[in-house]
Amino acid sequence: MAESAAIRVELGERSYEVAVGSGNMETAASLVHRLNPEARVAVVTDENVGELYGESLLAALDAAGHEAGMVMMDAGEESKSVHALAELWDSFAGMGLDRKGIVAALGGGVVGDAAGFAAGTYMRGVDYIQVPTTVLAQVDSSVGGKVAINIPAGKNMAGLFYQPKGVIADVLTLRTLPQREVKAGLAEVVKYGIIWDADFLGYLEENAEAILALEPEAAAKVVRRSVEIKAEVVGNDETEQGLRRILNFGHTLGHALENAAGYGTYLHGEAVAWGMAVAVRLSSELGMLAYEDAERITGLLSKLCGIPTPAGIDAGAIVEGTRRDKKAMAGRVNYVLAEGAGRVVVRNDIDEALVRKAVEGHVSRG
Ligand SMILES: NC(=O)c1ccc[n+]([C@@H]2O[C@H](COP(=O)([O-])OP(=O)(O)OC[C@H]3O[C@@H](n4cnc5c(N)ncnc54)[C@H](O)[C@@H]3O)[C@@H](O)[C@H]2O)c1
Ligand SMILES: [Zn+2]
Repeated sequence: MAESAAIRVELGERSYEVAVGSGNMETAASLVHRLNPEARVAVVTDENVGELYGESLLAALDAAGHEAGMVMMDAGEESKSVHALAELWDSFAGMGLDRKGIVAALGGGVVGDAAGFAAGTYMRGVDYIQVPTTVLAQVDSSVGGKVAINIPAGKNMAGLFYQPKGVIADVLTLRTLPQREVKAGLAEVVKYGIIWDADFLGYLEENAEAILALEPEAAAKVVRRSVEIKAEVVGNDETEQGLRRILNFGHTLGHALENAAGYGTYLHGEAVAWGMAVAVRLSSELGMLAYEDAERITGLLSKLCGIPTPAGIDAGAIVEGTRRDKKAMAGRVNYVLAEGAGRVVVRNDIDEALVRKAVEGHVSRG
């Protein structure tokens, strides 16, 4: 097993550690054991991940002396529903999970969000840990304590800030992930470079092949640095009053595209890669970002993530969609814009005509 140095998410008494390694998944059992050596454990997972990794985690928990059971969800976004949440509560009760019990969320962001929400509300909150198995979940959703389900009125509309007690990210698990999911997850990775760390952007450029091939050393470095950046941002602003908003780089436009195209057309990361490409163009057209920097970032996005070119979607509908963004305040849309590699600002005074022009540069009329 490769060494896995832990990253601390500093949140006072809610602080916790993220261990990034290769072949370290089963150390989730020792984490559980440290939290409570007597705990019953509900391993929440989905059918794909459960099949691949469920048994070995259960075996590790068993070896550590824990009574543990697997709670299987359907794979896919539909599992972030009121119905699936109620099933999780019932499963916890059915297996006799008490207030000292522990939930382990083994899977992607869907499992993490649903299991975290279920843990946060079952018996007014039981401890949970995250064992993320997608790039997106390892670099983003497992860290920060936002947990939610979808309701008909919108995505992630019912949720909590509820921090896990620890996160175990094993980059070897990423090797079974479909390539499309890998590339989509890397959009969030490029995002961290753009908003925070020019050197990291350089690393991504120089090691793109190794990263796409998920070579353990490169994958661990990428996950680790991403988590460090997210931890730093979240540690400064747990509940998104200020700094945490920079994590929305590419997201206002990306969400608008997800909506306009119809949910499920694009993976979240694909829409965000597109949103970042548009935001970069907008930043450059506003004279905030040098042309060479814009080219460089767009090139990296194409290589690591791929930038979709939506066809048959009206640019006006996308711009219209940004006004419905959850984070718009009093009708003003916040745009996170790039000032350089590794530096962004939040602006709410951007002329919609300019946004539209930038969007038009990234859709095809076909
Ligand atoms: N809480 C947050 O801060 C936050 C941040 C970003 C996104 N999210 C949420 O995350 C969700 C998306 O997460 P996701 O992209 O991880 O999708 P996902 O959980 O749906 O996983 C994608 C697919 O990959 C499969 N899979 C997962 N791990 C695998 C592995 N190791 N090998 C093979 N297959 C595997 C899953 O079964 C699923 O079919 C969305 O609901 C989004 O709202 C939450
Ligand atoms: Zn995102």
